[in-house]
Amino acid sequence: MKPTTVSTLHQWKKEGRKFASITAYDFSFARLFADEGVPVLLVGDSLGMVVQGHDSTLPVTVTDIVYHTQAVRRGAPNALLMSDLPFMSYATPEQTFENAAALMRAGANMVKLEGGKWLAETVKQLTERAVPVCGHLGLTPQSVNIFGGYKVQGRESTAADNLLADALALEAAGAQLVVLECVPVSLAKRITDTLSIPVIGIGAGNATDGQILVMHDAFGITGGHIPKFAKNFLAETGDMRAAIRQYVADVEAGAYPADEHSFN
Ligand code: KIV
Repeated sequence: MKPTTVSTLHQWKKEGRKFASITAYDFSFARLFADEGVPVLLVGDSLGMVVQGHDSTLPVTVTDIVYHTQAVRRGAPNALLMSDLPFMSYATPEQTFENAAALMRAGANMVKLEGGKWLAETVKQLTERAVPVCGHLGLTPQSVNIFGGYKVQGRESTAADNLLADALALEAAGAQLVVLECVPVSLAKRITDTLSIPVIGIGAGNATDGQILVMHDAFGITGGHIPKFAKNFLAETGDMRAAIRQYVADVEAGAYPADEHSFN
């Protein structure tokens, strides 16, 4: 299998070809996802919740992400691998450079960080130092205490305009990808159509260039609250490999997410 690169995703955006992505935290699932055709994997700080059992992503450390990135990279040598810079690990330029370097040395192809305009200089500095960046906008879980919970973002017109401006600022600063989480479908479409870089959605409808799911949601093993956008692909296929094949096929066909998984 040819390695998936950022250029591959940019080419797919030009061709209007949708792509699937999923979180991975260990060697075996990373290998299964790669085998079943998932081109982009994320070592997300969601691991704080779904792997470590915390009630937010805030306790996750760079050491945690490095450990999981190394394991995932061994399982999926050709995937485009993004790794999250966790909470407060990009608060100063010195921290940002050191922590981004640790993730890249562990095997990441790209780092992901949460925030808009205020991060433009950080994105520029990382990009200049050969660290590709994915921005994360909308419901950014590291800001849960500012938002007062896990809430859909960008519903009011000013908030929607601000999110578009944030996305444009990240792109202008050099970001190569954007993840948009939990925003109305119409806003996700507007941002996707405006940006020239690929936009990956989660809870953002099916107009984005790519989709991402937390792997536990795709297998229906998330405890407690199940997000509206989640779909249990294991329930309809009965087999983990078939579930991932179905997820990839449904994303590529634009069948997932459906209206019932999306916000207005
Ligand atoms: O940490 C994570 O898993 C994420 C996805 C929800 C996009 O950021």
